[in-house]
Amino acid sequence: MIARIVPDGVVAAELFDDPPGLQPHPQEEALIARAVEKRRREFVGARHCARQAMSRLGVDPAPVLRGERGAPVWPRGVVGSLTHCDGYRGAVLGYSLQVRSLGIDAEPHDRLPDGVLDAVSLEEERRWLAGTTDGDVHWDRVLFCAKEATYKA
Ligand SMILES: CC(C)(COP(=O)(O)OP(=O)(O)OC[C@H]1O[C@@H](n2cnc3c(N)ncnc32)[C@H](O)[C@@H]1OP(=O)(O)O)[C@@H](O)C(=O)NCCC(=O)NCCS
Repeated sequence: MIARIVPDGVVAAELFDDPPGLQPHPQEEALIARAVEKRRREFVGARHCARQAMSRLGVDPAPVLRGERGAPVWPRGVVGSLTHCDGYRGAVLGYSLQVRSLGIDAEPHDRLPDGVLDAVSLEEERRWLAGTTDGDVHWDRVLFCAKEATYKA
C-alpha cells in the first residue's frame, strides 16, 4: 500500500498482522525490556519491516535504535521512517544522497477523538475541513496524519 505513494528510489515494507516468532535485533532488546506486549509487538513488527526495506535497498540488515527525541537511527547514508497502529506496521527507507528525509504515519481510519482537531489545526484548516466531503474519508484524521508524518520527516 505505502509503496504506491513513496517517490522513486524509496523502498517500503509493511505488515498487516504480527507473524508469530518475530524477535527484536539483540541490540534493540534493551529498548523494550520493560515494554508491555502490545508495545513489544508494534516495535518488533515495524523493525522487521525496516530490515526488509534495508534488504530491498541493498543495505545489510541492522538494529534500529532510538535517537534524538525518539527518532529512529538508520545506517550511515540511509534515511527512513517507521509507523505502527492497530493492524499496521510500516517502514520506508532511502539513500540520503537521493532523499533528504522521510516521514510516514499510519492511523486508524476514524474521526479524531473530540478536542484533538482544535489542538492540532489552524482556523483555515478547519474551514477547509468543514467544506470538504469525500465519501467515507475522515479528512480530520488525514490532516493529523500528514502533520505527524511531516514532524517525523
Ligand atoms: C513522535 C510521534 C510523531 C509518533 O507518532 P505516533 O502516531 O504516535 O506513532 P507512530 O506509530 O506513527 O510512530 C512511532 C514511530 O515514530 C518514530 N519517531 C518517534 N519520534 C520521532 C521523531 N522525533 N522523529 C522521527 N520519527 C520519530 C519512531 O520510530 C516511533 O516508533 P518506535 O518508538 O517503535 O521507534 C508523536 O507521538 C508525536 O510526538 N507527535 C507530536 C509532534 C507533532 O508536532 N505532531 C504534529 C502535530 S499533530
